[in-house]
Amino acid sequence: MATIVPYTFEKKEEKALYFTSFTKGMKVLIATEKPFAAKAVQGIVDILEGAGHRVVRLEKYTDKSQLLEAVADVDALIVRSDKITADVMAAAPNLKIVVRAGAGFDNVDCAEAKARGIVVMNTPGQNSNAVAELAVAMMIFMSRNCFTPGTGSEIKGKTLAIHAYGNVGRLVGLKGKALGMTVVAYDPFVADNSVFEADGVERVESVEELYRRADFLSLHIPATAQTKGSIGYDLLCSMPKGATLVNTARKEVIDEQGLKKALSEREDLKYVSDVAPDSGSELSELFGKRYFATPKKMGAETAEANINAGLAAANQIVDYFATGNTRFQVNK
Ligand code: 3PG
Repeated sequence: MATIVPYTFEKKEEKALYFTSFTKGMKVLIATEKPFAAKAVQGIVDILEGAGHRVVRLEKYTDKSQLLEAVADVDALIVRSDKITADVMAAAPNLKIVVRAGAGFDNVDCAEAKARGIVVMNTPGQNSNAVAELAVAMMIFMSRNCFTPGTGSEIKGKTLAIHAYGNVGRLVGLKGKALGMTVVAYDPFVADNSVFEADGVERVESVEELYRRADFLSLHIPATAQTKGSIGYDLLCSMPKGATLVNTARKEVIDEQGLKKALSEREDLKYVSDVAPDSGSELSELFGKRYFATPKKMGAETAEANINAGLAAANQIVDYFATGNTRFQVNK
């Protein structure tokens, strides 16, 4: 059974006392099946060691048993899309904090972490530009028919619809505008219209309207119990002739059967995804150049994104142990 470490305190003094005892000498594991760029790793190590902590690394691991072994005596974890499930936490009795260097934290069992008193954080915004650039690249790649001569079209003048106007969605919208696209967006969780107004982006009131208008639909919803499998046949078939769905969010939000049916019935539709759906090889065989997926998740695969997210993760850990700062905690 893991040690339960409290992270909410009745009194300020209680908190100060608790964290002073942890200020230095924590063991931090960087566990990345898909490693950060070397410069980012160096930066993370410098920050953590500079604050008096120890750093160990487990990179490119191929089996979960390696992760289970590596977490045995660590106090903190920095991960990317690595799956931090209940058994990983059970194997890490000293674990106090997990920082997902990136935006989506669907790879961490946040409820289990909360039950064990483990703080989970992400680093929102730090890799957004890299993901947004990939979304634009994917739109252009598909509109040029996977770089097939004599068959391309331009994205200028087309309507770009953004599903979820958070850090990445907003950057994709702005880049689309710079490329001469008409940009519309849907996000029921953004309370304030001023964000859309400031960007010159039209806010639409329903998801149905968004898909109906989308020559390119760029997806930026997280994978949650509500969103998994939520993008399917009806929405896809409502898109205009020649439309492309661009998914740099999560493969799980797509209803793959619905996608297959829509692509079969509508020979003009295209799907491009930053990472392959489970039925990827079948889609490839059936739909040729109307479907493309990256072999590994590529959105955050830039030196800049790794440095931004990795260093933010290291700083958040240092700050948490020094002061108890939980600003970026996602499992409160
Ligand atoms: C994210 O959620 O931050 C992106 O999907 C990047 O994930 P990665 O760090 O596994 O590449």
